Amino acid sequence: MTRSPWWRNAVVYEVYVRSFADADGDGDGDLRGITSRLGHLADLGVDALWLTPFYRSPLADGGYDVADYRDVDPRFGTLTDFDALIAAAHARGLRVIVDIVPNHTSDQHPWFQEALAAPPGSPARERYIFRSGPPDRPPTDWPSAFGGPAWRRLPDGDWYLHLYATEQPDLNWRNPEVRREFESILRFWLDRGVDGFRIDVAGGLFKDPEFADLGEMARHGAGSPIHSRPEVHEVYREWRRILDEYPGERMAIGEVWSEGPELARYLRSDELHQVFQFDLQFASWSAREFRDIVTAAVAAVVPAGAAPTWVLSSHDVVRHVTRYEQPPGMPGIGLARARAALLCVLALPGSAYLYQGEELGLPEVLDLPADARQDPIWKRSDGAVLGRDGCRVPLPWGGKKEPYGFSPDGGGAAPWLPMPEEWRSLTVEAQDHEPTSTLAFYRRALRLRRTLVDELPETLTWRDAPPTALVFQRGPLTCVVNFGDHPVRLPEGEVLLTSGPLYGELLPGASAAWLRTA
Ligand code: GLC
Repeated sequence: MTRSPWWRNAVVYEVYVRSFADADGDGDGDLRGITSRLGHLADLGVDALWLTPFYRSPLADGGYDVADYRDVDPRFGTLTDFDALIAAAHARGLRVIVDIVPNHTSDQHPWFQEALAAPPGSPARERYIFRSGPPDRPPTDWPSAFGGPAWRRLPDGDWYLHLYATEQPDLNWRNPEVRREFESILRFWLDRGVDGFRIDVAGGLFKDPEFADLGEMARHGAGSPIHSRPEVHEVYREWRRILDEYPGERMAIGEVWSEGPELARYLRSDELHQVFQFDLQFASWSAREFRDIVTAAVAAVVPAGAAPTWVLSSHDVVRHVTRYEQPPGMPGIGLARARAALLCVLALPGSAYLYQGEELGLPEVLDLPADARQDPIWKRSDGAVLGRDGCRVPLPWGGKKEPYGFSPDGGGAAPWLPMPEEWRSLTVEAQDHEPTSTLAFYRRALRLRRTLVDELPETLTWRDAPPTALVFQRGPLTCVVNFGDHPVRLPEGEVLLTSGPLYGELLPGASAAWLRTA
């Protein structure tokens, strides 16, 4: 098992709840579905799961629009189902992290409904960010991350801020009531036994009190009016005090879109345990880019005493099998590279966050019908931007046709997004006993990492390598990743695992190897 504290070099598996497993046959995944499939996660060999939001929600942004932070959406189950899931996960030695969404609520949250019913200037509006202003010009030039302006005007003349969809009004973190409420929500889930939190939009809670335009801030070199403002750190100090009151190494990881010293501030010893480091999600398949990103990621967090985190895919980006399929014309290359990338990230110091379905080598689904798409990015761009539905298609578990075991057989609702026919050969069942399958490979890699991890120092040393390859060493483990098309010679040592077949002592292009070296 992993060293203490557990999260420092854990492998965490992101469960996109709506798309993992559907026990009740309504076409949406649910908590009972997850409980029924915990065996898959235990066999895979991950240390923890991170559940995306399953709280009461109209699902305007897949559940990142929360209407009740203390209840489970009926589509996803009940609090009793949640308790059963936690107990079953813990019984298998799996930790459970839940998502917390503090930057905004759903527009259906009772607080926002109250604010809408109350007049401008009333205390109910003070929980959100309302501003008066002329009807033809939003109060600032801030954009919504999903496209268009971040302000919406009400008939009474007030505008409210939504950095994401219009259905996601931003909370006012300068209001002490908001802070108290979230402290109580954290305790609610900690009391139910969660091992940690993934904090959504963790850097965004505070906005410039002067409501300066982005353009104006940039001209004065004054940082961002909406990201990583200093006040946010006081919130995480308080959250850390709460986490530390509980036994069992409870933790928090922030979704922070900052770099270098600004990122490290979140990792001070009385703040968050981890932050996501997303750059690999945007790297092309290049030795140079990977090496630069790894070097920068380590340098960003190690001085703060933290360990880095690695992410290849998530519910927010195109799946890496598809990203690595560039340039087109080499069928299968994306999958070969994705398998190599796994050995790379699992050999690095720190922890890895895997995204459901990558263990099956799932590609992005690019050809979803327009009327099936639900991502607000797709909707707000009038279909100009495909958005994130293509990485959120339900998981194929078995069988020969939709719903591929995602929902129980026979007469239930269709999966909330259609599943491609080609996934017939990618189901868990199809790969389970196939020794060369991606699933079998993930299991081997995770098992081996577990047996090695205690021997590995938290530092890494780069070794000489041809320009299109990377070689790094951590104590007895050497990892070689060949980003090129031509084979490279392996260093001396015992080959422990490769992502594809070897040619004698040569590691072919688009593959990686782990060796035990002196
Ligand atoms: C985060 C989530 C994303 C969501 C957004 C707004 O970036 O990962 O899925 O849309 O926050 O809550």
